[in-house]
Amino acid sequence: MIIVTGATGKLGRRVVERLLARVPAERLGVSVRDPRKAQDFADRGVRVRQGSFDDPASLVHAFEGAEQLLLVSLDRTGEECVAGHRAAIDAAVKARVGRILYTSQMGAAHDSHFQACRDHAVTEDLLRATGLPWTALRNGFYAASALQFLEAARHSGDIALPADGPVTWTGHDDLAEATAAILTDDGRFEGPTPPLTGPAALDFDAVAELAARVTGRPFTRTVVPDGAFREQALAHGAPAPVADLLVSIFAAARHGEFTAVDPTLADLLGREPAAFGTLLAQAWAA
Ligand SMILES: NC(=O)c1ccc[n+]([C@@H]2O[C@H](COP(=O)([O-])OP(=O)(O)OC[C@H]3O[C@@H](n4cnc5c(N)ncnc54)[C@H](OP(=O)(O)O)[C@@H]3O)[C@@H](O)[C@H]2O)c1
Repeated sequence: MIIVTGATGKLGRRVVERLLARVPAERLGVSVRDPRKAQDFADRGVRVRQGSFDDPASLVHAFEGAEQLLLVSLDRTGEECVAGHRAAIDAAVKARVGRILYTSQMGAAHDSHFQACRDHAVTEDLLRATGLPWTALRNGFYAASALQFLEAARHSGDIALPADGPVTWTGHDDLAEATAAILTDDGRFEGPTPPLTGPAALDFDAVAELAARVTGRPFTRTVVPDGAFREQALAHGAPAPVADLLVSIFAAARHGEFTAVDPTLADLLGREPAAFGTLLAQAWAA
């Protein structure tokens, strides 16, 4: 059986949809913190069990019978994030899971400028220490994150963000499809995968040109100092750790942590991954 955590989230839900197209529903299970949100999966024959990363016993029950477990990383940072991952990995060992696949990120490293990539590196160490077969999916930076950064510019026409560097923005749909492909072709990757990236690395100067082409309106790019950007995030209600996290994305991009363009995602998909311009056009048409 393949069990997916975070299956009511944006990535996990897409992975389950792609798996349903590949394997019978009775071979699939989800571990979700609110089973009511997964009722549609239950209706289609997927096993739905309640599993919270804050309640290890619930995870052991939800992971029961997993030949493969897709552990979708938590939307938290620092020790709070790693503690949840540690609980899930311990539960997977207790439940005698055959293989753990984990949604890591390209650039995962202990010395990353981006807190989330440091958390992924610690989690990968925990996976390595289990002695179980494991795969870390080094997912490209979500194009959805770039779209969030662009939300104000969409209306103002000015991309006012900190100094950046090229990033291979990558679509949720492509990552979900590749994850389903890996889950249904057992053992294809041992340990970290190569970076699973979109087709091109773009900085926000290049994104401004793309945005102009997509909309037919001019877009400018203004560099905002890191400190001023952090203050803006705080003023918009972001807690300090989130504001720091946002700033750290730009620092990591400036250091080239998200510039790799790798063919592995295209190989898994059997086609080119979606270009950022396509994803931008789709999002802004909606
Ligand atoms: N590669 C990248 O660029 C990038 C960028 C941003 C984030 N990420 C990582 O990728 C992950 C998945 O992305 P996404 O877009 O699918 O995010 P998402 O939609 O926020 O999904 C996060 C999932 O985690 C679940 N969750 C949160 N706390 C939980 C808990 N205590 N117990 C059980 N489940 C819990 C959520 O459950 P509910 O459905 O009940 O809310 C949700 O299903 C994120 O969580 C983050 O770690 C990666």
